Amino acid sequence: MDKLKVGIIGCGNIFPMHAASIQLTDLAELKAVCDNKEDRARQAAEKYNCNYYTSYEEMIDKEELDVIHICTPHYLHPPMTIYAANKGKHILTEKPMSTKLEDAKAMVEACEKNNVTLGVIFQNRYNPGSQLIKSAILDGSLGSVLGAKCSVTWNRSDHYYSGSDWKGTWDKEGGGVIIDQAIHTMDLMRWFIGEEIEYVDAQIGNRAHEQIEVEDSAEGVIKFRNGVFAGFFAVNYYSYDAPVEIEIHCMKGTAKMVAEKATITYNDGTIITREKNPNEIIDYGEGVKIYWGVSHSKQIRDYYDALRSGKPLYIDGKEAFKTQEMINAIYTSGKENRRIVFPSPE
Ligand SMILES: NC(=O)c1ccc[n+]([C@@H]2O[C@H](COP(=O)([O-])OP(=O)(O)OC[C@H]3O[C@@H](n4cnc5c(N)ncnc54)[C@H](O)[C@@H]3O)[C@@H](O)[C@H]2O)c1
Repeated sequence: MDKLKVGIIGCGNIFPMHAASIQLTDLAELKAVCDNKEDRARQAAEKYNCNYYTSYEEMIDKEELDVIHICTPHYLHPPMTIYAANKGKHILTEKPMSTKLEDAKAMVEACEKNNVTLGVIFQNRYNPGSQLIKSAILDGSLGSVLGAKCSVTWNRSDHYYSGSDWKGTWDKEGGGVIIDQAIHTMDLMRWFIGEEIEYVDAQIGNRAHEQIEVEDSAEGVIKFRNGVFAGFFAVNYYSYDAPVEIEIHCMKGTAKMVAEKATITYNDGTIITREKNPNEIIDYGEGVKIYWGVSHSKQIRDYYDALRSGKPLYIDGKEAFKTQEMINAIYTSGKENRRIVFPSPE
């Protein structure tokens, strides 16, 4: 079978994870890259031996691509997805889908209308520990979920924000600690619980950053339709990136995730743990944080597999939309100081 021809838009921090993952798979080849900063596009093209563009429309129009990866600031994910979908391309976008919920909806609709497959990166679902907890909930060994909580206490300094032309802004990033950092943990917690949301009630604030307009702290509750309350606490003014924690309290035991290590303690005393495999290491090149691990590559390979085999995609646009809806509801709740009952109206 011919390899899928891939183009990537955005050659910033996350770009190497996508480019190296494409190189590693025998299912696809990187044909072109695009960045509106020409030097970035040129350097990326030299490194990966492909064509480069400064206009994504031109790349999509000129190259005969099957798949577009989107690695740009959040507010650009919707117009880029919709343009590519209307040209018949499959799209794999980085999280989050968008800054606004109506834009995420338009992405799903454009992909459905054009019969192309939208995937959204939530690579932490592929971590071995995440898989252990999800399967123990799915196969019933943990029993029904009774409650959940998570915390993300990381460090994103004023310097981190001043080094970016889009982070820390409502219009381009769409928020702060929730939409950018805690979104992974919130997505995992929602996925573990596996139920529809009844309401979101949250508070957000900027309590420690001088230079940004978005929130650096948030706390609240997600109530699910099965009656489960899931509490969350997220800040990015802590002194370091402490390990994220998720706890899922179930009828037959408790599952706990600390960073990537999962521990399930059953009520009968049995304990099962799973950590990332230390032998699974991918060299993504300079500047790529080690903790991002190998899960990006797993998700990208899975996405191509689904395209080729026609089997249902694991994290498609509709599934990612549910997390987007939860995230946007946290913002609406926090800004308007009210409970957001689902389905949320935004
Ligand atoms: N999954 C993860 O763990 C993870 C980690 C980091 C970043 N991300 C996501 O990846 C995306 C990019 O983040 P980043 O940290 O790489 O940002 P970045 O700012 O380092 O890179 C974004 C790139 O997009 C380019 N760009 C901006 N406008 C463009 C346009 N109109 N056309 C073409 N290129 C354009 C910029 O020049 C820049 O090179 C975001 O959605 C972010 O949330 C995900």
